[in-house]
Amino acid sequence: MCGIVGYTGSNPALIVLLEGLERLEYRGYDSAGVALIENGKLHVDKKVGKIRELVKSLWGKDLKATAGIGHTRWATHGEVCELNAHPHTDGEGNFAVVHNGIIENYRELREELERTGIDYRSKTDTEAIVHLIALNYRGDLLEAVINTLKRLRGAYAFAVITTKEPNRIIAVRYGSPLVVGIGKGENFLASDIPALLPFTRDVIPLKDGEVVDLRPDGVFIYDFGGNMLTKEVMHVPWDIISAEKGGFKHFMLKEIFEQPRTLGDTIRGYISRDLNLPFSLKDFRRILIVACGTSYHAGLLGKYWIEKYVRAPVEVAYASEVRYSDMPVGEGDLVLAISQSGETADTRFSSLALKEKGATLLSVVNVMGSALDRESDYTLYTHAGPEIGVAATKTFTAQLAVLYALAVSEAEEKYARMEELLKVPHLVEEVLSRSEVMRGIALRHANNRDFLYLGRYLSYPVALEGALKLKEISYIHAEGYPAGEMKHGPIALIDEKMPTVAIVPKDRVYEKMLSNIEEVLARRGKVIGVGFEGDENLKGLCGDFIGVPEVEEDLTPFLTIIPLQLFAYYIADYLGLDVDQPRNLAKTVTVE
Ligand code: G6P
Repeated sequence: MCGIVGYTGSNPALIVLLEGLERLEYRGYDSAGVALIENGKLHVDKKVGKIRELVKSLWGKDLKATAGIGHTRWATHGEVCELNAHPHTDGEGNFAVVHNGIIENYRELREELERTGIDYRSKTDTEAIVHLIALNYRGDLLEAVINTLKRLRGAYAFAVITTKEPNRIIAVRYGSPLVVGIGKGENFLASDIPALLPFTRDVIPLKDGEVVDLRPDGVFIYDFGGNMLTKEVMHVPWDIISAEKGGFKHFMLKEIFEQPRTLGDTIRGYISRDLNLPFSLKDFRRILIVACGTSYHAGLLGKYWIEKYVRAPVEVAYASEVRYSDMPVGEGDLVLAISQSGETADTRFSSLALKEKGATLLSVVNVMGSALDRESDYTLYTHAGPEIGVAATKTFTAQLAVLYALAVSEAEEKYARMEELLKVPHLVEEVLSRSEVMRGIALRHANNRDFLYLGRYLSYPVALEGALKLKEISYIHAEGYPAGEMKHGPIALIDEKMPTVAIVPKDRVYEKMLSNIEEVLARRGKVIGVGFEGDENLKGLCGDFIGVPEVEEDLTPFLTIIPLQLFAYYIADYLGLDVDQPRNLAKTVTVE
């Protein structure tokens, strides 16, 4: 993953780079660094740890450079240490490179470069790029980069600067995201749009196979053959306020509490205009949903709704599994790719492979202009705004809203269904007003090390998502399971030390769920129940209980997931963990 930034203009580059890096920190945060052209010489600073460590090390240094690049790392090749942190430089110290992604043939390149006498310093795949560019340099950085590209295999984005052409940055996108920001007398570069928002809202998201030549007074974009391309500048509607914490302790908490608004925006978008597809879902032989992580859980719920209202067969697959499978997919099939970022490598590449086999590609994305957005035949947007917390919350419920709107779009009772959906934002608000109850429950259980999350039918994906939230941010082992399957394995784990979170709205499987809870209680397990407010039956069985407003079966996931998001948040916060940037994770995973 990793985050890249770049600046060239007339202001101090360091300020822009550090601000941009802080906004990209969610992409990786094990080390960070910057390279600046200071008085004609390369100045490189890198530090292990978060951006604040880098900021501390730069404190008091009066760096006036007006061009530079920066990087925040999520290690793929080579352990976390200063030597492996980016930027990487050539032996002479004339070139510096920051890189996101993987150079797959890095071993072969390293051997070849070392044979020519080059002294390798790091264990990264990145170092090959900078040595190759230095070797290929004949007075024009763009030309040196284009010649270097011929040698690289993999999926990557990188940016390079050189002391020999101090105001110029050359950057490349091939499989990892990169966006150019357009200013007046200054131009910017970043791995995503929010990192550019403090400086400009005029952007050009690069496509795979494009190279940008960034100078203070102009931006020139080329293909890998060196042919100049004409690109349109996109004006970003988000404002910077929506990417700030707004008084909340963490982005995740703010994003949880934003859900009434983001759901309202998404649902109203679909009522007024967004669902304008030139085909019927019924036209397809089969619908295949591909996604990762939280988006995969949204896909599982989409399957139930589409099957119910469209009556078409739906399969849901992990994108990373589909890509290398022999699944027979082709013309007549619809691939529905779900991705918050629109940049997840597994989701993109598996969807593209299926599209190449003849399937139609429809995607649900949050980031307009992202790779998946551009690569799809059709896109449906979630209007959730930028999500900064690594653990997805508001984009999950926004994905559910889009999938539900899609599923009912051809149903006879479409308008009645959408009217019900419109009530959801207000009901979510009611659930959020009980956050203190959830906090109390969370604190009572914060010292447990294992949790089981059970649900059936629509509450099964909710159980999976609830367990994922807890794992991601609190590092507590949590297993989501279909409640009916519990007796085939997980029941062996139950004792007084392993609480069960049971999601039990009054739906078609309510009675079955009550029996499953009894089975847990019979083995001295503790139960935390999530059900409808006023359900005394359920409340009586559960040691802890949180109620959500009664809603019709279809819409229960929108409400039952909220207490589970809060539960994970309050436990992680109580444990003093880094809620927005949990260890080992990254928000956008652009490696396979
Ligand atoms: C990462 C994030 C998850 C996210 C998943 C898929 O693992 O940490 O929060 O659900 O990627 O991301 P996408 O952008 O494709 O929805």
